[in-house]
Amino acid sequence: MDKLLITGGNPLNGEIRISGAKNAALPILAATLLADTPSYISNVPHLRDITTMVSLLGRMGVEFIVDEKLNIEANSSNVHTFNAPYEMVKTMRASILVLGPLIARFGKAHVSLPGGCAIGARPVNLHIQGLRAMGADIQVEEGYITAQAKRLHGATLCMDIVTVTGTENLMMAATLAEGVTLIENAAREPEVIDLANCLNSMGAHIEGAGTGTIRIEGVEKLSGTHYSVLPDRIETGTYLVAAAMTGGKVKVKKTDAGLLDAVLLKLLEAGATITRGDDWIELDMQGRRPRAVDIHTSPYPAFPTDMQAQLTAMNTIASGVGMLTETVFENRFMHISELQRMGANIRLEGNTAIINGVESLQAAPVMATDLRASAGLVLAGLVANGETLVDRIYHIDRGYERIEEKLTQLGAQICRSH
Ligand code: EPZ
Repeated sequence: MDKLLITGGNPLNGEIRISGAKNAALPILAATLLADTPSYISNVPHLRDITTMVSLLGRMGVEFIVDEKLNIEANSSNVHTFNAPYEMVKTMRASILVLGPLIARFGKAHVSLPGGCAIGARPVNLHIQGLRAMGADIQVEEGYITAQAKRLHGATLCMDIVTVTGTENLMMAATLAEGVTLIENAAREPEVIDLANCLNSMGAHIEGAGTGTIRIEGVEKLSGTHYSVLPDRIETGTYLVAAAMTGGKVKVKKTDAGLLDAVLLKLLEAGATITRGDDWIELDMQGRRPRAVDIHTSPYPAFPTDMQAQLTAMNTIASGVGMLTETVFENRFMHISELQRMGANIRLEGNTAIINGVESLQAAPVMATDLRASAGLVLAGLVANGETLVDRIYHIDRGYERIEEKLTQLGAQICRSH
């Protein structure tokens, strides 16, 4: 099992290029099921989850042409299978994103329930509830969702909880439904907007993406498109936090500062100097120690839960006391015990972590548990005294393209061991 070996102490300096957003590329690849002519998707990140989605769609009969830059042509004109088996869904929960497109285009689907994961139970009841409201006949038995529908019809859907993939699944299903669908209390994440823009380029009629109410007027069919995936705001934030923690100066390119205002504000509060351009952000910590910040995660545009572990890591060595409250997932503090083993002074009270910043962390062997927790452990390793070994880094490879290469480019002492 791959591990990362990190020797802490080097301030990060230099420039890196940000990859396309995993959480936009995944729904956009699923959306190619909706069209009967090929789509060409570019700026797709080289990640394990992307490979999983491509192989899942490939098993259904989607034909792919992938070039060396991972630009992907997907042709769904010969789809012959409408299921997503457990052995694939259990490796990637986002497989649930094929459910809406399969029912909308083919009128049937047999998709495994994506069990829970390290960060929580993560049910998909709201996806199912919405599809039933649009006329799908859905049975949930023996761990599978089995759905049938002649043609979905529009409906007004009021989401009990803001759900990103729930909003995406229902928006995709509504593009081919008869009539108008309203999604109230919709997720407003930039990845939802990117998916809506892609669907509209395929011929869909979607308005309001990025607001709490999305209106979709169904059409007869969608056609293939050329679309470039937006930059990954979480990868962007992760490298900026790495610069802030190590007292360095880093410029991230091919990104969009407008995607992560809440994160940038917290980094300014921590004492960083930030400059930004059309497609770049530069963070300069000038050798200073960050000040502790308080974080309260919530759906976009509030502070993103996917950046909580990274700011937790920063707070462990910041000056002062930082409070982090996680409101989105019920178990997203798996990194805390590992950080405590590195000497962090953290007290957990329910869904709040109280962190007393220490002068320095001590390297230790630690274990990754989920994608963003493992990013937090890598960041801690960058500042710890000695050599930190992060185990089970397959979690990291799901969401960070070539992390050790990008960090090495910035002057980190990091290598992968098999
Ligand atoms: C998406 O997950 C992201 N994944 C997650 O990123 C991200 O952490 C999360 O949104 C929140 O921003 C993708 O986009 C592929 P939710 P998703 O549905 O859609 C509850 C990463 O690191 N809920 O917005 O699965 C749920 O339990 C990953 O890249 C229901 O109760 O998250 C959670 O408490 C991790 N019923 C809350 O809503 C439902 O039917 C938000 O979950 C759906 C969700």
